[in-house]
Amino acid sequence: MFDFDQLYDRRPTSTFKWDAMPDLFNVSPDEDVIPMWVADMDFAIAPVIQDAWNARMQHPIYGYSRAPQSLYDAIIAWQKRYNWTIAQEDLQFHQGVVPALALVIQELTNEGDEIVISTPAYYPFKDVPTRLNRHVVECPLVINDGFFSYDFDALEMALQNASAYIFCHPHNPGGTVWDQTVVETIIALCKKHDVLLISDEIHADLLFAPHEHVPVMSLTAKEDRVVSLIAPTKTFNLAGIQFAMSVTTNDTLKQALTDAAARLAQFGPHVFAMTATEAAYTHGEPWLQALLAYIEKSADYMKTELEQIDGVRVWKPQASYLVWMDVRDCALTDVELMKRFKEAGVIIYPGTKFGQTGEGFFRINIASPFSVIEEATKRMKAAFTK
Ligand SMILES: Cc1ncc(COP(=O)(O)O)c(C=O)c1O
Repeated sequence: MFDFDQLYDRRPTSTFKWDAMPDLFNVSPDEDVIPMWVADMDFAIAPVIQDAWNARMQHPIYGYSRAPQSLYDAIIAWQKRYNWTIAQEDLQFHQGVVPALALVIQELTNEGDEIVISTPAYYPFKDVPTRLNRHVVECPLVINDGFFSYDFDALEMALQNASAYIFCHPHNPGGTVWDQTVVETIIALCKKHDVLLISDEIHADLLFAPHEHVPVMSLTAKEDRVVSLIAPTKTFNLAGIQFAMSVTTNDTLKQALTDAAARLAQFGPHVFAMTATEAAYTHGEPWLQALLAYIEKSADYMKTELEQIDGVRVWKPQASYLVWMDVRDCALTDVELMKRFKEAGVIIYPGTKFGQTGEGFFRINIASPFSVIEEATKRMKAAFTK
């Protein structure tokens, strides 16, 4: 019904995945290369979104827009699947999760404050607060049975003098889904130490059964100091629409974020972001389910193949399309492996991109047609053994 096997040449579309390679990896997009680094997908979006855009384009005027009630209804209805009922007045629109994170840090913490992150971490979690002159405290996750877990004693220690904690829920780069006990403990620790909890839930819809997403705000009280960040962009491959939402029920935080948006003239959302979001959340479910089945097959394939190499372990993600490959028992260094993968024409992120705890790992984006996954896997296997 949906053709995830279709190959598209993304190079004519000014795409970051290809066009940033010369700067970031010293690799030309014209080489025989498979980019599997930045987290977007090489699949066509759900036809219902394309249709909604086409329909909107029939009207040739694109003046100032205002979010319609139907958009709010679609957003609220989507989150109900997780037993999370969002009140419309608690929602604010942003031009992406990272821009929202920057606004939250800027407005709700002070220069010099400690911001705690659990590493390895999605790299803007460190970069954004650092650029805003906050002090980032890295608290390492621990490896348990081939997945990350929390050392809550260490986290509590780190939170003692902190003003905010950035929670990656589910976890990028590890692909770990945090269960209710973890979520409850994090909420309790932040509350105990009066730490603002910022929950980035951008990967939440991309879950593989039997894992379930428990939104932080499905478990918190109105006055709790929590801001959750959500978006349809990772789920539906729409990163280019630059759209995300923050949600907070705490009146003081809400007022501060609303004032900041007004002060910085941040209004929205973009006309095509509104159209896409409403269509995705209203009609996108069948596409999403088909996508998840497709990605899971690729993850299983890559795990089976790459684990044939001595010392390689592949963490099949519990959520999202990012595979975390463990090469700590491999005879080759990360630097040597990175060089070999590049020479083989596969561009992936070394785990150290996500902090020092990422040493001995690589992150592979498998959201590409299966034929591409097969070719990349073949190239990586050859790179290990050449
Ligand atoms: C955890 C996490 N947050 C945020 C983003 C990016 O969000 P946006 O493109 O809306 O800024 C990503 C992208 O990979 C991510 O993994």
